[in-house]
Amino acid sequence: MPVWGALFLLWAAAEAAEDCPAPCTCQALETMGLWVDCRGKGLTSLPALPAHTRHLLLANNSLRSMPPGALDHLIQLQTLDVTQNPWHCDCSLTYMRLWLEDHTPEALLDVHCASPILATIHPLGHLTGYELGSCGWQLQASWAYPGVWWDVAMVVVATMSLALLAGLLCAATKPLY
Ligand SMILES: *[C@@H]1O[C@H](CO)[C@@H](O)[C@H](O)[C@H]1NC(C)=O
Repeated sequence: MPVWGALFLLWAAAEAAEDCPAPCTCQALETMGLWVDCRGKGLTSLPALPAHTRHLLLANNSLRSMPPGALDHLIQLQTLDVTQNPWHCDCSLTYMRLWLEDHTPEALLDVHCASPILATIHPLGHLTGYELGSCGWQLQASWAYPGVWWDVAMVVVATMSLALLAGLLCAATKPLY
């Protein structure tokens, strides 16, 4: 039995070392899965994470954003520590917020945003949709640009219609001899 135990530990250590992202340290858990510790590594973006990551520690880094869907392939992930990072809490951070809300809602109270100003007043878990910057608003802003050309087109069409109408009226009111 001790032989199997030692073999397992060896296998687990090899497995853990295999796809551990460079700046982090990884430890295989007895229950399978990985403990991935990336605390205080000056990370500015998420490292490539092993698929069997179960506990992910990202505290004390320089992370500002997490791409939506970034954790979707980590189906075993149970805990995520993202405290002490300069998060930019706009609409795109909604993904991370929802992930935390689903898995460890209490952790949301320890996550603070560094920007924008409006989002720094409460922990991430207490920010309203307005403070977080609503996604719908950004969509409307992107629609506003073609809107200008739509307005111009409408003015042109309206002017041409008026000219045509005036012409028709002139023709119609011309006395017939
Ligand atoms: C955060 O990480 C830096 C290295 O990037 C380290 O020097 C510092 O002690 C860490 N701070 C805390 C509170 O863990």
